[in-house]
Amino acid sequence: ADASEKDDAEPFCSHEVTAAIDSGESEAVVTAAGGGAAFRDAVVSGDADACIALDHPAWNWVVVNKHRPIAPENFAPEVTSPATFSPIGAHLAPEAAAALDEMTLAAQNAGVGDIGLESGYRSYEAQIEAYDAQVLARGTRDGADETSARPGFSEHQLGLAADLVACEAGVCGSMYEFGDSPQGQWVAENASTYGWIVRYTGTETGTTGYEAEPWHMRFVGVELATAYVDGGYETFEDFWGLEAAPDYE
Ligand code: DAL
Ligand code: ZN
Repeated sequence: ADASEKDDAEPFCSHEVTAAIDSGESEAVVTAAGGGAAFRDAVVSGDADACIALDHPAWNWVVVNKHRPIAPENFAPEVTSPATFSPIGAHLAPEAAAALDEMTLAAQNAGVGDIGLESGYRSYEAQIEAYDAQVLARGTRDGADETSARPGFSEHQLGLAADLVACEAGVCGSMYEFGDSPQGQWVAENASTYGWIVRYTGTETGTTGYEAEPWHMRFVGVELATAYVDGGYETFEDFWGLEAAPDYE
């Protein structure tokens, strides 16, 4: 550390922040850093570089996009079954599962209706199948790339992405119907309260490389989701001051 760093009254990687990092709890780290907006500012300015990286797949702030593959490629998180109904028995990372349950219960209590989990954690191998199905459906890799991540590039492999559907009496619609459903509209308005963001709104395809996916929710934790929405961000890339990633390199 040079003299100017030593003079810094409050370095970002304080004892409090590093103790939270040792705990492994993303939300505790963000809180110790002074909240979502302060955490973001420190990452973007480089002040957090000594203790925070956006590419470690086990933290809620990890950024995965067409320029940022998951490393290691075969990363597999701890996952659990949410209580939220899932037609295929999908799993999520524990914190994301609890946050989904909280959100779907709140939607029910608000009289909006039932929400189901169409897809959650997908292994590297499961993403091969998901991507290949889109290549088949759309006829080309370029077409598939607009709606499906290639294996190793999907937030679903983190256990932090949830594809949602609207359900009634145990019968669920398709993902593609979610955005126009009362449930989808409620989620778009309220998700950040539970730690989720709509990752691909469709207004920012030039940044994310994906068409609108109002069903694809990304768990980032309440602090970061609140900072994201309050800051008026439309992409996770912009939130972190990262380059646009519309295509594979
Ligand atoms: N549909 C999103 C982009 C994924 O495959 O991760
Ligand atoms: Zn998805």
